[in-house]
Parts: sequence; structure tokens; C-alpha cells
Amino acid sequence: MDFSQRCPCGQLSFADVGRTVQVVGWADALRDHGLLLFVHLRDRTGIVQVVFAELRDQATDLRQEYCIAVTGKVVQRAPGTENPALGTGRIEVMAETLEIISRSKTLPFAISEKAMLAGASVTAEAGVSEDRRLEYRYLDLRRPSMQQIFFQRHRIIKTVRDYLDSQGFVEVETPVLTKSTPEGARDYLVPSRIHHGRFYALPQSPQLFKQLLMVSGFERYFQVVKCYRDEDLRPNRQPEFTQLDLEASFIDEEFIYSLLEEATVRMFAVGGVELPRPFPRMTYQEAMDSTGSDRPDLRFGLRFIEATDLFKSTNYGVFRRIVDGGGHIKGVNVKGQSEALSKNVLQNEYAKEIVPSFGGKGMTWMRVVGGRLESNIVQFFSDEEQRQILDRFQGETGDVILMIADISYKVVTTVLGKLRLHLAERLGLIPKDVFCPTWVTEFPLFDESDEGISSTHHPFTAPDRTDFDPTDKSALLQLRSRAYDLVMNGEELGGGSIRIHNMDTQRKIFEALGLSDTDVKEKFGFFLEALEYGTPPHGGLALGMDRVTAMILGVDSIREVIAFPKNRSAVCPLTDAPSAVTRKQLQELGLQQPAKKPAPQPPPAPKAP
Ligand code: AMO
Repeated sequence: MDFSQRCPCGQLSFADVGRTVQVVGWADALRDHGLLLFVHLRDRTGIVQVVFAELRDQATDLRQEYCIAVTGKVVQRAPGTENPALGTGRIEVMAETLEIISRSKTLPFAISEKAMLAGASVTAEAGVSEDRRLEYRYLDLRRPSMQQIFFQRHRIIKTVRDYLDSQGFVEVETPVLTKSTPEGARDYLVPSRIHHGRFYALPQSPQLFKQLLMVSGFERYFQVVKCYRDEDLRPNRQPEFTQLDLEASFIDEEFIYSLLEEATVRMFAVGGVELPRPFPRMTYQEAMDSTGSDRPDLRFGLRFIEATDLFKSTNYGVFRRIVDGGGHIKGVNVKGQSEALSKNVLQNEYAKEIVPSFGGKGMTWMRVVGGRLESNIVQFFSDEEQRQILDRFQGETGDVILMIADISYKVVTTVLGKLRLHLAERLGLIPKDVFCPTWVTEFPLFDESDEGISSTHHPFTAPDRTDFDPTDKSALLQLRSRAYDLVMNGEELGGGSIRIHNMDTQRKIFEALGLSDTDVKEKFGFFLEALEYGTPPHGGLALGMDRVTAMILGVDSIREVIAFPKNRSAVCPLTDAPSAVTRKQLQELGLQQPAKKPAPQPPPAPKAP
């Protein structure tokens, strides 16, 4: 079969009328009109209608998704039969030869996305479960809308590769079979056949290697790289995902901000999205204080308003106890929503059900009616307090003021943060097609954890000061890091930091983390050793490319932008991975003892005569 003269289906146009062409692809949809059989022929460029008249009988064999080759003449469609939903809708190909290249079994679900008749609708995906789609992913990926996603993904990644190349960055591959890198998740381990009892770890990120490349003097590195993390799945998390990972020497935060802003603006432009520049910046503390999240969604208001000081001498017992105990009260003004948020909704849904499910003990609500506050607890507030509340929250008739009070700052901000998102979603306050990038900076260097303290990012992140005492826990928890996250619309797209390039500081961080010299030597000995050979100051960042692509293309889950993703239970329904392996494989890896030979059985006792 010779395909050298083939014309891409989607590229045929009115200008081709009169030409004889070869078109090949898949039978997307068929319509039998008795004397004529119409076939939508699809390849990756689009669809063209093929008409079987003389070849009518030969074509009766055709079924959906048969792979076929047709030659024929391009003709103008009869007036009134044009299909504006097709790029090629003004023409069709009159088949002169037909070759069935390969047949298809009956499809597990519809693939066709274009109606043959103008104005008719096609719902290819409706009713098909995601697992079914993933089980037959190779068919799911035949759908033009899915192919567009991957064409765009390719362009997005190419755009950023080209840009980094133009800035002197070189792509260097780092190992996949390696040693554990601490990024906060569990490792996927690969047992060694040659060294029983030893394991490689799949990289959670190329963090240590990219820093070693800086020690090696590459100065500007990047890589589009798979990373592996064994963590609880969420819609925006996969066990293996792709990072755009980069690192540079002799730079500071400003270099990273401007490099990444340009790269991000260019990537979003591929999807027709124009991002505002420069990206605003917010400290971690500002983000927590105003939205209760370190990945704030800034597409809508509902910013937190501090109210603790208003209730210093209140007679309302619940608030008084919290304020006296050093707790916090914060709230939001849900502007003009008192109709949508009735007393019943506020009390029975939010205060009794939703807020407790977020971990809050309760919620105080007030509606502004006729310029005055109205609720089940307003009676406990003095006139002066009510005036101050209205003033602080800029309350006007029609507004709803909500407050969360708790001893713990974390509880107040987390609960109010969840409430903020819930309300925005419910009340339709989140505008579509709006993109609000922001840098979140000045994270705490350490978080409190069950074991004592742990790194908020990873232990190679530079602290804002180096004169700290690694044994003073409360002072350590006050340290800020030189880390930054790139956040957009409530999603963390990327994160990075300026690194520690000094071995003594790195050792102090390990000590603060409670790692013994032996632990450190075993886990990172090679890395600390490298830091002692003239390490340049350096820093970098990694963008989650699945998240970036999903956001640019406006799809809800990163599984849609990964060709062969795992499902919600970390299983691949196509290959059925993870799957069992043979006993022999386990034995070779030293993970199972060879089965003991059955002990010789005593000869059967002679039968009694
Ligand atoms: P971090 O752990 O923040 O940083 O990861 C960088 C970005 O990778 C994406 N990401 C994920 N995407 C899909 N599924 C996952 N399971 C997943 N986990 C992370 C996110 C995240 O922002 N080595 C550092 C970077 C650095 O310091 O340079 C790192 O890996 O978009």
C-alpha cells in the first residue's frame, strides 16, 4: 500500500474541488441512504465526508472505526447539504476505490464526536465511566477532543523547552533508578536482583541531581522529567507525573520570578490565555491571614476580615472565652447574598453540618437587614459591638457576615478557608476564564510534625537566616525559607527555592530535623561531600506540567492530559498494573524464599492382610 500521495482529511478544502485524492483514516460515522452511503472519514487532522455511490455495494461491509483507504474526486456538496460543524463541510470525496486496511470489533463506547447532519448533536463521552475509558484508552485517545489535548500539551512543552534553550538552559537527564529524595511522599522502591535486600528508589524529583549539576558547573539546567510519588491520590495528583524541573547558579529569587513569569506567559499563550504580568506576590502569612490557604484562589473576593479585637470585652460567652484564651475570630462578608443564604441555610446547613465537617466547632452568622444585624445571637452583642461589626465588615443591607472563632489560628483559617471556597462555588462567585497567578513567598522553613519538626518544602531549601540554633525548636519554627510557590486559581502549579550551598548550614538543618550523623551519612553523604567542592550559590523550581496543561486547557482533572494515567485507586485499568508477579521473580529478587522441597514421605504402610 502506498500512502505517499495521501491528503490529510482535515486539510482538504474548496480549493481541492476537481482533484483526485487519496484519503486514509478511520470510519468515524456512517449513514446509509439506500443508493448512497456516506462515511465520515477521520484522521488526526480532521474529518472529510466520503460518498460511496458506484462503490455502494463494496462499502456495505464498512463499520465504525474500520481503518480504510479511499481514492476519489473532491466535489462541492449540493447546496443545503453543507455541514458547518466540519472544517471540510463544503466538500466531499466521491469514492472511486476503497480498501479496508483493518477491521474493528464493535466499540466498547462511541468515539465519534461530529454529527453527520448539520445541527445534530453527538455526545460521545456521555455515560461512559472513566475506568471504561481508561481500559480502552487507545480508543478514547482516538477522539478528536482528546487528540487536541495532546497536540496542545506537545506545543506547551515545546514552547517552554525552546524558551529555556534560548536562555542558555541545557536539558540533562538524571537517573530513574536512584536513591530516595525527600519530597514528603513515600518512595516507589525497586528491588535489586544483583544485591539482594537493597532497593533503588524512583525519584520523587531530581532535586539532588540538579543541585549536583550546579556543583558540576552547568549553571543552567532543565529537564522535562517523570517523578514518582506514592501518596494519597487527589484529582490533581498522580503516582507518576511530569515536572518541568530547572536549576540555575549565581541567581536570586528575582531571576526565577522573571524567568518563570515569561515561561508561564508563553505557555498560557499557546492556549490563547493572556496572563497579566508581573505576577503579584503574597507572603505565606498574608495568604493564610486573608484566604486560609497557601494556594489562594484569587479569582473572587471573600477575603478574611480580622475581628478578634472587636470582642475583647464582649458579653457573648463563646467569643469571650476564645478571646480571653488567646484565640482568634475571623470572618467574611458575603456581599449581597442574603437571599441565597437564608436563616435556614445558614443555621441548619452551614452552622450544623458543613462547618463541623470542615473541622470547625461552629459558625456565627449575621444578616444585614435594613442596615442592622439580624441573627440568633445578635442579642448578645452590645449596640457598640454591632456598630463596630458593621463598620469592620463594611456591612450593607443584603450582606451576610460569617465568623469562625477558635483557640487555634490554624483551625480558624483552615475552616474559614474551606468555607470561603464552598460559598464561592455554591454562589457562583468564581468567574470562568479568569487566571490569577501569584507567587507565594516566605514560607515557614519548618512545620511542626509528630516526630518534632519537618521541612515545609525539602531540607535543601535555604533559610532566611543562618545564625539559628538547631536545637531550639520554637526558634526554628519562626524561621522563614527562601522558597516560593507559583499558585494559580487555588492550585499549586510549581514550587522551588534558593538552596543551601554551604555544608555547615546544611548540616545544621539536618541536625534541626533530628537526623543523626549516621542517618545523614547514609542518606545524603554523597551530597554533603559534593557541597564541599566549591558549590556555587544556586536555586530553582519545578512546575507540575500536568497541572499547568490542565489549567491552560480548562480540564478538571490532570488524568485528562496524561495519555495513560492511573485511575483514582492508583490502578491502570488498561494494563491492570500493579499486578502480581511470579514466585520465580520474587525469588530472583530475594523477596521470597524458594519453596521448600516437600519432605520425603514415609512409604505407605503395608495393607493388613
Ligand atoms: P514540589 O514537590 O513542590 O517541588 O513539586 C513541584 C510541582 O510538581 C507538581 N506535583 C504533582 N503533580 C501531579 N501529581 C503529583 N503527585 C504531584 N506532586 C507534585 C506540583 C508541584 O507544584 N524538587 C522540588 C522543586 C524544587 O525545589 O526545585 C519539587 O519537587 O505542581
